[in-house]
Amino acid sequence: MAYTLLIRNCGQLLTLAGGPAGRPLTGPALADWQILIDAYLACEDDKIVALGAMADLDETQITTATQVLDAGGRVVMPGLVECHTHLVFAGNRAHEFQRKLQGESYLDILASGGGILSTVRATRAATEAELLDNALRHLRDFRRYGVTTLEAKSGYGLNRETELRLVRVARQAGREQPVRVVPTFLGAHVVPPEYKGRNAEYLAYLLTDVLPELRGEAEFVDIFCEEGAFSVAESRNFLAQAQTMGFKLKIHSEQLHDLGGSRMAAELGAASVDHCDYLNAEDAAFIARQGRTVVVLLPLVPLFLRQKQYAPGRQLIEQGVPVALSTDFNPGSCPSKNLWLALSVACLNMGLTPREALAAVTINAAWALELASEIGSLEPGKQADALVLDVRDYQEIPYWLGENPVREVIMGGQIIRG
Ligand code: NIG
Ligand code: FE
Repeated sequence: MAYTLLIRNCGQLLTLAGGPAGRPLTGPALADWQILIDAYLACEDDKIVALGAMADLDETQITTATQVLDAGGRVVMPGLVECHTHLVFAGNRAHEFQRKLQGESYLDILASGGGILSTVRATRAATEAELLDNALRHLRDFRRYGVTTLEAKSGYGLNRETELRLVRVARQAGREQPVRVVPTFLGAHVVPPEYKGRNAEYLAYLLTDVLPELRGEAEFVDIFCEEGAFSVAESRNFLAQAQTMGFKLKIHSEQLHDLGGSRMAAELGAASVDHCDYLNAEDAAFIARQGRTVVVLLPLVPLFLRQKQYAPGRQLIEQGVPVALSTDFNPGSCPSKNLWLALSVACLNMGLTPREALAAVTINAAWALELASEIGSLEPGKQADALVLDVRDYQEIPYWLGENPVREVIMGGQIIRG
């Protein structure tokens, strides 16, 4: 079969390939992936079939049916993998912004019945059609930023009916547009008012009444392990039981305090432990030794919460911890869908280099979703998800602060417009 899509004249083709096979990129390998200069990328249907120097392009594979995209010397890279979002919710929390500026903390606002609980009220009151409409609008925005795969958590329902609706909406949104959506169940976000003070009972309810309905519907089960949410012991018990039901695991941990949730989840073999602004060096070393669990850094969250403490990205990389980057898009701690901005802030405030940060939004983010055999790098056999950027050198990517460098988005071998 001939090429169905050919991207030619890529000034820099960031393959994100060439690291040790079978595990996320760590340590020096995080920056050591391959860049091809003056290169092409060829696809057949939805898969990449060849890439290399323009001088080696096999012209016999080009027919009248081949769609040819001339990158004109620009940077071409894999589609972004957004491995941590709270995509489905109603309303917004602009009314809390001023409170935050006046010094109220995230946990104070939550304890007063606001924060996550405010979004829960709005989400419970919304219709399924409204929720789907919101999710599709956000997905369109993500796609324009070059996101080709996105994880979407539930967690603003906190009862059976609404949580199932949120997972259903995430899946439906995935079917209605081209960005691949990976659903996660975060019913254990906080304890709903109906179960106030009865954490164990609420978690038992999720395990018996909700999770059985989500087999085959949600890929991951997540929990918010934090003061004012769930303890390490509660989180361990919940995640371990979800695991025996066949779910893969994630956790929100060490966001605001060092409780030990990240280490606990890594012991269980979680795909990722997320936030980790307060992760200590000893637990980081444990995660590095374990080798598979990815630490997902969310630099826009401390920025938006006006927190001085950022996850020690540089130190984590030097300790050999696999790191990924995501926005954490949600109405409370990160109302931004700009993963490029997150990438820049990771360089500025967490000490990542541009090459490390690029690996963290592609191949290592794919590892955090256990999808690295399909997406996250440009290699023959992988899904043809790629971006043509409006820059000629990858070093410009974190430099143009807050801009969207995306010129073309290719998903499954198709050029997506609009
Ligand atoms: O990842 N920290 C817990 N959950 C989200 C925020 C949710 C919200 O504030 O609405 C987070 O930061
Ligand atoms: Fe989150």
